Amino acid sequence: MIRKKLIAGNWKMNKTSAEAKALVEDIVSEVGNVKDVDIVVAPPFTSVETVGQAVDGSNVKLGAQNMHPEPSGAYTGEVSAEMLRSLFTRYVILGHSERRAYFGETDAFINQKVLAALKAELKPILCVGETLEEREAGDTLKVVQTQLEGGLAGTSEGQATEIVIAYEPVWAIGTGKVATVEQAQEVHAFIRELLGNLLSPAAAGKIRILYGGSMKPANAPDLLAQADIDGGLIGGASLEARSFVQLVEAAQTAN
Ligand code: PGA
Repeated sequence: MIRKKLIAGNWKMNKTSAEAKALVEDIVSEVGNVKDVDIVVAPPFTSVETVGQAVDGSNVKLGAQNMHPEPSGAYTGEVSAEMLRSLFTRYVILGHSERRAYFGETDAFINQKVLAALKAELKPILCVGETLEEREAGDTLKVVQTQLEGGLAGTSEGQATEIVIAYEPVWAIGTGKVATVEQAQEVHAFIRELLGNLLSPAAAGKIRILYGGSMKPANAPDLLAQADIDGGLIGGASLEARSFVQLVEAAQTAN
């Protein structure tokens, strides 16, 4: 296996701390010993510490959904990479389309976060993806290229293996409209080619590219069987232990 599959749950703004604890405990009891797939859960900031304690000693890794690029300072409401690292966070989702759309995050700002995350030894899960309008206008690859080049500017080839890319077509997120395997694989292969140009072909071969957008146990096996799809970033189906565990199992089968 060249690239170990990665299944990451993006809980978004869901679960109180008590609910998060219950969910992660169920996940750990089912797949906490899984070694052939990397598993990440990204709860809201309010339960990062609780979830971190619950995954301690298991193979489930702790993630966060966002961070600010500065290490500390007058940024009301924000959280830094150092703060996340102090709670043993290993991954951070950056540039999610909801943050781009609702909070005005630009590629330049996302790039600052990617660089700050790498400096703090947090693995960025950099999200890219086109809207329905952009797809219908034939701009998918152009949009993905701009977001990828912008988000990764200034990263070294040495840092590349720490990075995870998530291709999430905006029109497929939370809508139940999953991309076809051909649509997904086309963009994933394009991203890998771009990574080869931006970093090196060797680095591109090591970087995991996740698919995100209505991934569920029913559609995961076909998506995960594609040559350039190395896992999933999962929203809705990560909020219940049963479906999340089934996605981990699908990734094990696809290995
Ligand atoms: P979804 O969300 O699985 O609910 O479509 C995916 C994401 O936004 O990361």
